[in-house]
Order: sequence, then C-alpha cells, then structure tokens
Amino acid sequence: MKKKSIFSLRQMKKRGERITALTAYDHPTARLLDDAGIDLILVGDSLGMVIQGHDSTLAVTLDEILYHTRLVTRAVRQALVVADMPYGSYHLSPEQAVANAIRLVKETGCDAVKAEGGIDRIPVIRALLAAEIPVMGHIGLTPQSVKRLGGYKIQGRQMKDIERLIADADALQEAGCFSMVLEGIPHPVARIISHKLEIPTIGIGAGPHCDGQILVFHDMMGLNEESAFRFVRRYAQLGERIRESLGQYQRDVREGHFPSLEESFPLEEPIETQLEESYGSYLKDEQT
Ligand code: KIV
Repeated sequence: MKKKSIFSLRQMKKRGERITALTAYDHPTARLLDDAGIDLILVGDSLGMVIQGHDSTLAVTLDEILYHTRLVTRAVRQALVVADMPYGSYHLSPEQAVANAIRLVKETGCDAVKAEGGIDRIPVIRALLAAEIPVMGHIGLTPQSVKRLGGYKIQGRQMKDIERLIADADALQEAGCFSMVLEGIPHPVARIISHKLEIPTIGIGAGPHCDGQILVFHDMMGLNEESAFRFVRRYAQLGERIRESLGQYQRDVREGHFPSLEESFPLEEPIETQLEESYGSYLKDEQT
C-alpha cells in the first residue's frame, strides 16, 4: 500500500471517501493499525491518560511524545503519522513551537504535528508552516484547555460559541492546516464546518458528518475500562480477555500445567544418558 500524504487525505475528502484514524503509542499497536490500512495514526497526548494514568493530558512532555512517536514511525509503512504537540511545547511563542516541532520531525520521522486551539493559535500555525511542517488543527473540546473550560464539556451549544467555532475552523484552514480534529461538539455544528471546509475534518464526539473519525485505541478496544464517553464505541473487550488469560496462566502455573515438556528444551543423546547416570536421583521427581 502506498504511503499516505497530507494530499492523499485531501483527495479522499474530494472523492467522498471517509478517513480512518486512531491513536497509537507503541510499535506493535502501530503495526496492527498500519497493516489494517488505517489512514492516519496519531501519537496523541492522550497517552498521558491511557498509558501514564494521569487524569489529564497536561503532564505529558515533549520528550515523551518524541519517545512514543519513534516507536510508532518505526512500525508504519503506509499511514500518515501525526505527532501531538504536548501542552507547554507551543504556548510560549511561535519560535518555541517551531524549535519543538522541528525536533519532532527530525528525531521521529513523523509526517505532521497537531496543535490544539483556534484563532489564538494562528501565529504559531503560520510559523510551523513557514518551517515546512504540516499542521493538523484541533478545535472544540480541546483537552489541553481542561482547566480553563472547567472540565471535559461539550463545546458549541450556544449561537455565539458556534459562530466562534466556525470562525476558528475557517481561520485554521486559511492559515494552511491540512486537516483538523473536531472534538466534543454537537453534530450539526460539525456538519456545517465539514461542508464549509475544503480540508478534511476528523471527528471524535462530533457525530457522523465529519470527513473521518478518530478514537483512542485503548478506549475502542476496552483496555481503558474506566472511560465511559458516549461517543466511544467498544469494538472489543480486550480488558476482559486479558483478565481471563491472566487467570488461566495463574491456574496453569500453580497446578503444574505450564510449561509442558513440549514447551521445554530436551537434551540429546548421549548427554541425556550420562546425566541420568551421574544425577539420576535428582531427576526422579521430574514430570515425565
Ligand atoms: O491526544 C489525542 O489522542 C487526541 C485525539 C483524541 C484526537 O488529541
């Protein structure tokens, strides 16, 4: 399968093909997603919650995103890999944002970066693009704003907030973002933005009218069992499967069913006979 580019996603929107996106933070997961033909893999700062156990994404550092993105890019052959810019890595100045995003591109081989925020973030986005770094926008319920928003609340329920979101979306496209995440907004608002824009919108908790969808891998696979967002569809119950397997493993070890001799390494003749002659008494209690 041919490697996806930011232009492939734009072409998909033009052709009316819906874009699939998921998060990954490690090599084996990224390989599974890539083999399945997922179009875009995001190394999201959601790793702060699903991997590190924090209650927000705010503690995630640039070094952590660098580390996890390297694990992912090494596995990926066809998907577009986007590295999330963590909180604090682009909030001080456009210069700071460019320096950090250049590290992401150089040290991980990612294809693009993602930054949260609307009109206020335009100087940063323009600076990143001037440094040849493709940018994915992210508006609506932006998790890095959790303290200012007063929690993980759906955005864009009142007319003035809806107009602000539409203006943010227009501004991000105008500034040159190749795509944007619409998170936690009512579906009619996401529908308007998706129809209005030429660049693809990728929804999460934004309804069925976006040009593509993204979910956090651990949520959709039932590995993050605490998350109970209305927009998460569980495609597997891996948490339950893992718990069952752990129980079986413990029973097998405790009852002597694992490992079997077939799962162990025998000795060849004549060493086995010599061993029997020298140490036979110690071998008596062994399983046969
Ligand atoms: O960090 C993340 O995983 C994200 C997605 C939920 C869009 O930003």
